[in-house]
Amino acid sequence: MAICLSKKNRIFGLHTNNTSYVFGVDGLGLIRHIYWGEKINDLDEFSLPVLCEVSTNDSVYEITPEEFPVYGGLRYKEHCLKVNFSDGTRELIYKYIGYEIKEEELIINLADTHYSFQINLHYKLYEEEDLIERWVSLKNSSEDIIEVEKIHSAQFHIPYENLNFSNVHGHWGAEQQRFTQRVSYGKMLVENRRGISTHNHNPYFILDKDATETNGEVFFGALRLSGNFSGVVEQTQYGETLVQMGINSHDFMLKLKPKKEFTAPSIISGYTNKGFEAMSHNLHNFAKKNLLRPGLRPVLYNSWEATEFKVNCEEQIRLAKIAKKIGAELFVVDDGWFGERNSIDKGLGDWYVDKDKFPKGLKPLIDEVKAMGMMFGIWVEPEMVNPLSQLYKDHVDWIYHFDTRETDTSRGQYVLNVTKPEVKEFIYNMLDSLLSTYDIDYIKWDANRPIAQSGTDKAIWYKHIEVIYDIVKELKKKHPKVLFEACASGGGRIDYGILGIFDDFWTSDNTDAYDRLKIQDSYSYIYPIKAMRAWVTDCPNFLSRRNIPIKFRYHSAMMGSLGIGCNILKFSKEDIKLSKELIEEYKKIRPIIQEGDFYRISSNSENNYHCFQYVKQEEAVLFVFLPQSKLGHRGIRVRLRGLQKDKVYSFNYNGQQLKMTGNYLMKYGIDLRLVGDYDSAIIHFSVL
Ligand code: DGJ
Repeated sequence: MAICLSKKNRIFGLHTNNTSYVFGVDGLGLIRHIYWGEKINDLDEFSLPVLCEVSTNDSVYEITPEEFPVYGGLRYKEHCLKVNFSDGTRELIYKYIGYEIKEEELIINLADTHYSFQINLHYKLYEEEDLIERWVSLKNSSEDIIEVEKIHSAQFHIPYENLNFSNVHGHWGAEQQRFTQRVSYGKMLVENRRGISTHNHNPYFILDKDATETNGEVFFGALRLSGNFSGVVEQTQYGETLVQMGINSHDFMLKLKPKKEFTAPSIISGYTNKGFEAMSHNLHNFAKKNLLRPGLRPVLYNSWEATEFKVNCEEQIRLAKIAKKIGAELFVVDDGWFGERNSIDKGLGDWYVDKDKFPKGLKPLIDEVKAMGMMFGIWVEPEMVNPLSQLYKDHVDWIYHFDTRETDTSRGQYVLNVTKPEVKEFIYNMLDSLLSTYDIDYIKWDANRPIAQSGTDKAIWYKHIEVIYDIVKELKKKHPKVLFEACASGGGRIDYGILGIFDDFWTSDNTDAYDRLKIQDSYSYIYPIKAMRAWVTDCPNFLSRRNIPIKFRYHSAMMGSLGIGCNILKFSKEDIKLSKELIEEYKKIRPIIQEGDFYRISSNSENNYHCFQYVKQEEAVLFVFLPQSKLGHRGIRVRLRGLQKDKVYSFNYNGQQLKMTGNYLMKYGIDLRLVGDYDSAIIHFSVL
């Protein structure tokens, strides 16, 4: 049984295949954390010792490992919840009142001792993936408004000091830059205050005890929220490390009306003693099983880097024909097809087809694309409006603003206040009509600026994204075949909140194939490969000005859901031929890449090799990149991972057909050598 209870000791145990999470109810009715780690089946061995204050300055709360610390009393560590009652009281005093079990979910019910206010702690188990999804819900059963000033979704207790914390940093065009730093006394904060997710930090934590890819303890959690989040890691004075994550309380206030409930976003959390690889596999498997739409993602062509705003029907048809010729399955028209959209500062909000660019509407293009047997996709940025649009002229009050202040534009645009019912309805209707009028299979949903001058409701920092989730969920009900790509100026909306509601992430506007290796590597720690869109684009790259051979560019993009963003009208015969071959190869290995297990592979070389591997059942694929050779004559030995040791694998390397056992490939490995700069190889292994 995954959820266990020792009634005698009032101790709850949550068991997954390899882990246990244990907490109990103490004599004061507090929920005290006891254990999170390797599996311990017998709950009777756990107890809740009586705790006493350390000194009059170090109250008992400071050493009480509460599952969900609230603001109140002699608590000075970070709390998860702070509310203001209508009489001005700002202290919460809760007591355990009971529990419920719903299939794989345990709910612990807490209630304030004076006010009609309930807190429910939720724990949902994913046994095979060794994960627990945690969240909190609040219920105001009183007659008054209760103001929620801070709500973090869960607290985690880790019984160590001096852990390593990792996350990503970055900015537009340089998203997903993984960093690791030592935790010490005091607090560390990662957060987003921009409303529209962020290119900077990402809503997750990884804390490890000097783990490697394949060994060592790792505690991790990913928040299911695309808006303002904060995550606090606190190494206390008393020998443990605490982590909390949830909605950012910066400029936040939720007014919980009488009889209303609020459910905070959940955190998918896990523990492993098998290093980062096991962490990634557990999260990827969770996403594949529970969030991602089944089926393989199509190879897409997107016209943005080729044409930018200068789209027109004729040229798009010409692009589509070549896209089809090289093997694309989905043709996506990016920005520029609507309103007076010839530059960034016009058109947003006016979602009618530009008659100068498409005199007969989109139909002739879509018909051509469909006649060629491709799917059709289109770009939108529904949350935004340009001041120079008709929509803005008609509804100046639809944007986030303060009445007495001028509203800042960024990229020449404002953000629509989607929490207004009429704005939500406008966006839904606009998209519904687009999807009903045209045979569209794919929506690329962009969002190119953060929120500012957010208006008087301090809850919009959370409500905004909830509305976006709702719109897409509703659209998917009516138009179930349509895939949605989450893009926010590149990789600004990559998180477990949006994953599943949207099907693809646009990982970054940085399409430089070398930079992408780092971006994709960092991404893979938490997020599944199937949702990682990667394009092959032209050289010199618009951002890095780097020239990289086309084969390396393809190989880098083939590590995810492949897309092509080149101006294929300018392709030479050789480019077309190579593109055809590589796209064909991608289609063969696509199930292994998109649905297999992903491995970050280390090599024995000082040289700058980057190796990644995928395994699905009896097949594996190894990607090897050498961006810049240091000692070019030296090769590397790569030990493969995740193969079946007693099976014989056949593969082709350097024109030779070879056979080796899984055991040999995993223990001895294979000797490989790439030469020069920007060399790369893909090796496909199949069980004989
Ligand atoms: C930003 C996106 O990341 C790009 O791919 C492209 O769609 C542009 N916006 C269009 O304005």
